Amino acid sequence: MGQEVQYILESKRLVWLVAVVFAVVVMFQYLEFPYGDVSSSMFSVHRAQPPLSQTNQTKTSSEIPKSTGNNTIKFISPPPSSDSTTSPPSSTSASLTPTITVNNTVVAPSIALDNNTLKPEVNPPNLNPNFKKPAPSENKPAMSTGEPQVKELPPVQERPIGDIVTLSDMHDILLHNRASVRSMKPQWPLMVDQELLAAKLQIEKAPINNNDRALYSPLYRNVSRFKRSYELMEKTLKVYVYQEGEKPIFHQPQAVLSGIYASEGWFMKHMKENKHFVTNNPKEAHLFYIPFSSRTLEEKLYVTGSRSRDNLVQHLKDYIHLIAGRYDSWNRTGGSDHFLVACHDWATDETRKSMNSCIRALCNSDVGKEHFELGKDVSLPETYVRSTQNPLRELGGKPASQRSTLAFFAGQMHGDVRPILLHYWENKDPDMKIFQKLPKSKGNRNYINYMKTSKYCICAKGYEVNSPRVVEAIFHECVPVIISDNFVPPFFEILNWESFAVFVEEKDIPNLKNILLSISNRRYLVMQQRVKRVQQHFLWHAKPVKYDIFHMILHSIWYNRVFRVDPVS
Ligand SMILES: *[C@@H]1O[C@H](CO)[C@@H](O)[C@H](O)[C@H]1NC(C)=O
Ligand SMILES: *[C@@H]1O[C@H](CO)[C@@H](O)[C@H](O)[C@H]1NC(C)=O
Ligand SMILES: *[C@@H]1O[C@H](CO)[C@@H](O)[C@H](O)[C@H]1NC(C)=O
Ligand SMILES: *[C@@H]1O[C@H](CO)[C@@H](O)[C@H](O)[C@H]1NC(C)=O
Ligand SMILES: *[C@@H]1O[C@H](CO)[C@@H](O)[C@H](O)[C@H]1NC(C)=O
Ligand SMILES: *[C@@H]1O[C@H](CO)[C@@H](O)[C@H](O)[C@H]1NC(C)=O
Repeated sequence: MGQEVQYILESKRLVWLVAVVFAVVVMFQYLEFPYGDVSSSMFSVHRAQPPLSQTNQTKTSSEIPKSTGNNTIKFISPPPSSDSTTSPPSSTSASLTPTITVNNTVVAPSIALDNNTLKPEVNPPNLNPNFKKPAPSENKPAMSTGEPQVKELPPVQERPIGDIVTLSDMHDILLHNRASVRSMKPQWPLMVDQELLAAKLQIEKAPINNNDRALYSPLYRNVSRFKRSYELMEKTLKVYVYQEGEKPIFHQPQAVLSGIYASEGWFMKHMKENKHFVTNNPKEAHLFYIPFSSRTLEEKLYVTGSRSRDNLVQHLKDYIHLIAGRYDSWNRTGGSDHFLVACHDWATDETRKSMNSCIRALCNSDVGKEHFELGKDVSLPETYVRSTQNPLRELGGKPASQRSTLAFFAGQMHGDVRPILLHYWENKDPDMKIFQKLPKSKGNRNYINYMKTSKYCICAKGYEVNSPRVVEAIFHECVPVIISDNFVPPFFEILNWESFAVFVEEKDIPNLKNILLSISNRRYLVMQQRVKRVQQHFLWHAKPVKYDIFHMILHSIWYNRVFRVDPVS
């Protein structure tokens, strides 16, 4: 009897104990879960935000969506509203709106937003003040002639903190996407899948290696990984180049070897001529190149005055349809091992539907306004090639000690940032050489001399985030000062940009001189040396050389492909 009571008491105690343990475990998991590894490091600025439910994808625009399985988190700011004709188009005033992509389809937050925000693709070009037919390549760069001047000086716009995607946010998004976003699982397996997976594992286990004299470690996020990945690319990578497509839009790089869109032309030329990487057997290809020029596409198909690029978009769509019907490579991976290299401003938008699954190397790498996906898409350096015969002409500049000008900028008044820059700094301070376009001089001598003799070269965005000035500055060994919120700088996945460039938010333009003066001379000298060392990655050569811009572009595409492979089960 007593024993039985004892027994009942004991088992009651046991049940109670189990219940307590269970409750503690559950509580732990509850507390632990939303702050797990990825999410807590994902958006440092927003760490204080309450965790969001896994299943509920309804977000207010002030919240940051949490990763949900295979979804990508992107930030898309609404395009300028159609009636804002009085003030210049402004990504400055646009607030960022998080959206979620499921299977590459943008799912808009269900909280009410401006209609334009939800459907940027139906924003008709003729209503979008950002829409412009870019001037021919000779006209867009800094020292060209004959562009309208801006009459009204817009005020610096107030923006709430956290509105822009900072470099560190970009890095967090990149890591997050790397960890969680996979390209489509191949419909059927091939050896190349194993090879990519093996490469990924080897890069992740790269031996510590920072004694390569060609690679100065402070310039890189992780020099050991880069070195290993580059070696594996040289050893493994095979690229299939489609022969389909008619000239001149396809297969004719000669048309785009000079001017500001030259990156796509030079890449196409080198890729098509390449013996090492190119294969004629699609079955052994890790990557498939779609050899078109976005510049020529615009030149040949855009109907002046039509204000519509629908026919350009259709042309690319037809092409994908053609190759998807002719080769099974496209269907095998849904296009995720296909890539394109395009420098025209419009290319980002033109390729975002039919080629969205592809790895897109794009000059217009705007992580805010455009659909640029970190971890998949690659920021393509915009290079202004002045001499097709000798792309290295005028390389270099004065040593640091002979750089007498603090800061230099010259350019046309494209977009909304430059008028602000000019408003604050044109003819305001002898140390700040901030001009509109410089008067014509033979071979742009004036402009080049300033680049060669200034400490800092200001790279302010124009209509779009990218500018040839970033590479020009590096070319002439001037420390770049990038004023272009949401611009993903070239080779972002590899280079540690903050070690050799200065990033100034658009809102800080009034404070520009103080920001530059706050950088010690010692620090400046370090950065300038690094600019010289990173230069090799931004140079076009008549014949490609190791670690040059051609190989760096190909490497970033390879790197993103490798890190998106789905582990073969
Ligand atoms: C998501 O959250 C909102 C607001 O909290 C709520 O109204 C809605 O019913 C939720 N939806 C789902 C699917 O849970
Ligand atoms: C999500 O990814 C996993 C593997 O990464 C895959 O098995 C699953 O099918 C994917 N789900 C969707 C909805 O794509
Ligand atoms: C995403 O794709 C997977 C497989 O391709 C499919 O099963 C799933 O239903 C898709 N999800 C959505 C939301 O379209
Ligand atoms: C948004 O679009 C819907 C339907 O297309 C329309 O009824 C509504 O008035 C629009 N709202 C705004 C704010 O333009
Ligand atoms: C670089 O990557 C390697 C391989 O993943 C890793 O072992 C090493 O710790 C990383 N180095 C730094 C500085 O993050
Ligand atoms: C790829 O898929 C599309 C759409 O399902 C189909 O029309 C096409 O014939 C397929 N391609 C090949 C080579 O089977």
